[in-house]
Amino acid sequence: PRVGIVVVAAGSGTRLGAGGPKAFVGIDRHSILRHALDGVFSAPSAQVVVVAPAGREGDARTEAIEAAGDRADLVTVVTGGTTRQESVAAGLAALWGDVEVVLVHDAARALTPPEVFSRVIGAIDAGAAGAIPVLPVIDTIKRVSGDEILAAVDRSELAAAQTPQGFRRDVLDAAYAAAIDDFTDDAALVAQAGHAVSAVPGHPLAFKITTGADLDRARHLVGADTA
Ligand code: C5P
Repeated sequence: PRVGIVVVAAGSGTRLGAGGPKAFVGIDRHSILRHALDGVFSAPSAQVVVVAPAGREGDARTEAIEAAGDRADLVTVVTGGTTRQESVAAGLAALWGDVEVVLVHDAARALTPPEVFSRVIGAIDAGAAGAIPVLPVIDTIKRVSGDEILAAVDRSELAAAQTPQGFRRDVLDAAYAAAIDDFTDDAALVAQAGHAVSAVPGHPLAFKITTGADLDRARHLVGADTA
C-alpha cells in the first residue's frame, strides 16, 4: 500500500489510573485500542503498524486482526519504547517499502472519525509535506511561571493539535533520523527539520482519552452502560 498508519498504543496509562496499559482499557465491550483501530481501518487500504506495550504484543495483534476483518494481512505489530517518540520510531522502522505517506495516530484518540483521516491524507496528496488536524482553543490561555501570570496569549493565534498527523514518508523518516529533542508530537519534529506543516480541521471526537473524566466521556459517547 501507498499509505501506512502507525498507531501508537504503548503508553502506560498512569494518568488514567486503570491499573494497566491504557490501550487495553474497555470503553464498552471494546477497548480503547479496538475503537481506534475501527477508525483506522475505515481508511482506504493502508498498512497498519500497531505499536504495543512490551509484553502485550499478542493482545494488540488479536485486537488488530479483529478490527481488520478481511484485511488482516495489512497488520504489523511492534514493541514500543519509553517515550512516544521512541514508539513512533519503532513503528516507522516497520513500514513496508512501498509506503509513501505515513499517518501517526494516538490510540488514545479512540473515537476519531474517518473524515479526519481522509482530510489529512487529502492534504498530503494535494502537495503538503505534512498535515495535522487542529481545533480552535476555547479557553483563555496565560503564560505562567509558578503562580505568576507572565502574559496573556492571543487565543486567535493558537490551535490544539490532534492526530492522525500525516507526512510524506521521506520527510518524516529524515526528521526522525535528525531528531535531537524529545517532542510530544511529530509535527514539531518535522517543523524543526525545516518543513512547513499544514493545518486541516480537526474534530471534537478526536479528543485524547487521558484522565478518568475523558474515559467517562468516551463511554457516554458510545452509549456504554456504565451503571
Ligand atoms: O501520553 P499520551 O497520552 O500523550 O500518549 C499519546 C499516545 O502515545 C497514546 O496513544 C500512547 O499509547 C502513546 N505512547 C506510546 N509510547 C509511549 C508513550 C505514549 O506509544 N512511551
